[in-house]
Amino acid sequence: MPLSIIRNDITKMKVDAIVNAANPSLLGGGGVDGAIHRAAGPGLLRECRTLGGCRTGQAVITGGYKLHCKYIIHTVGPVWQGGEHGEKELLASCYRNSLQLAFEHSCESIAFPLISSGVYGYPKASALNVAVSTIGEFLADHDMSVHIVIFDKSSYEIGSKLYSDIAAYIDDRYADENAVPRSFSITRAAEAAPTPLRFQKASKAKQKLHADECSMPAPIISNQASLADALKQIDESFSEMLLRKIDEKGMTDAECYKKANIDRKLFSKIRSDRLYKPSKPTAIAFAIALELSLPETEDMLKKAGFALSHSNKFDIIIEYFISIGNYNIYEINEALFAFDQSLLGV
Ligand code: APR
Repeated sequence: MPLSIIRNDITKMKVDAIVNAANPSLLGGGGVDGAIHRAAGPGLLRECRTLGGCRTGQAVITGGYKLHCKYIIHTVGPVWQGGEHGEKELLASCYRNSLQLAFEHSCESIAFPLISSGVYGYPKASALNVAVSTIGEFLADHDMSVHIVIFDKSSYEIGSKLYSDIAAYIDDRYADENAVPRSFSITRAAEAAPTPLRFQKASKAKQKLHADECSMPAPIISNQASLADALKQIDESFSEMLLRKIDEKGMTDAECYKKANIDRKLFSKIRSDRLYKPSKPTAIAFAIALELSLPETEDMLKKAGFALSHSNKFDIIIEYFISIGNYNIYEINEALFAFDQSLLGV
C-alpha cells in the first residue's frame, strides 16, 4: 500500500527512513524527538551537532544509528499560531522536503509522525489532512511505501463534522441491520440481501428448513447443459471489467492503480491474470479509483465474489463516501482508520 496509516511507535518501524519532528537546534527535545534520540543513542546527537540546525519547513538527514532504519530525516514543523502565518505551507514543505531527501537517498520506505500536531499545537485533523494530501501528491509521481505512524489514538482526529456525519450514516444503517428481531428468519434476511449473501444464507437455511420452504435463487447451471457448456457462459471477470472500465474512463493503468493506493506489482499481476481474485478492500479500492456509482461498485464487487452489506461498518463507510461523491482514497482511509477499520489499497 503506497500510503498507510498505522498505530505504532515510530522508533520500532523497520523502514529505510524515519522522520523526526525536530526543533531548529536539532539537539533533541520531548515528544517524538526525544523518543528517537533515546532509541538511536548518543551517536545521533553527535552527528546532529555538526549540522548547524535546521529552518522551519526544511529537512536534513543523518544515519539511523541503533534504530532499525538506515536514515533519520529531521524536519522542523511550524508552531501553530492560528493559521494566518503560513503554517499550512510550511508543514507541507516538511513532508515534501523529507520525501525528496528520502528519494535522493534511494529509500523505498519511510515513516512519518504527525508533524507539529503535538507540542507545536497544529490542530490534529488539519495536520493529518496536510500530511495525507502532500504525501498523496508525491506518490502520484513516485513509487515509495509511506507510513503515517500514529503513536496514540488521542493524537489522531479527522474533521469533527466528517466524523459525526459518518457516525450518523453508520447508525442509520448499521442499527437497522442489527436491530432485526430475533425471530427474523434466515430466508427473509437472504431475500433482502445481495445475491452472494442470499446464496450463502439460503443454502444454510436449506439444511435447516424443509427444501420446498426455501426459495433458492435460480440455479446458474440448468441440469440439461453440460458442465463444459455452462463454463462457456462464464461472465466477464473482475480484471476484465477493471481493464474495460479503465479504458472507458480514458485513464492510464498507472493513474488508476495510484488513485487506488495499490502498488504497481499487484496491478501487473491483476492485468496478466483474467481470473485474478482480489481481496475485498482491493476490489473496492479500484471501484473508488474509477469513481463508480454504487450499483457499478456492487457489480464490480460481485465479479470478485463480494457484496457491500449493512452488517459491517467498513462497507457502510465506503457507501457513505460513494453516496457523497467523495472518491479521495486517502480521505476515505483517514475515516476508516478513525473508525478502526482496515484501509483501502494494498
Ligand atoms: N512514535 C510516533 N509518534 C509519536 C511518538 C512515537 N514514539 N511520540 C510522539 N509521537 C507523536 C505525537 O503523538 C504527535 O502526534 O508525534 C506527533 C508530533 O508531536 P511532537 O513530538 O510533540 O512534535 P511537534 O508537535 O512537531 O513539536 C516539536 O516538540 O519534542 C519537541 O524537540 C521537539 O521542539 C520540538 C517540538
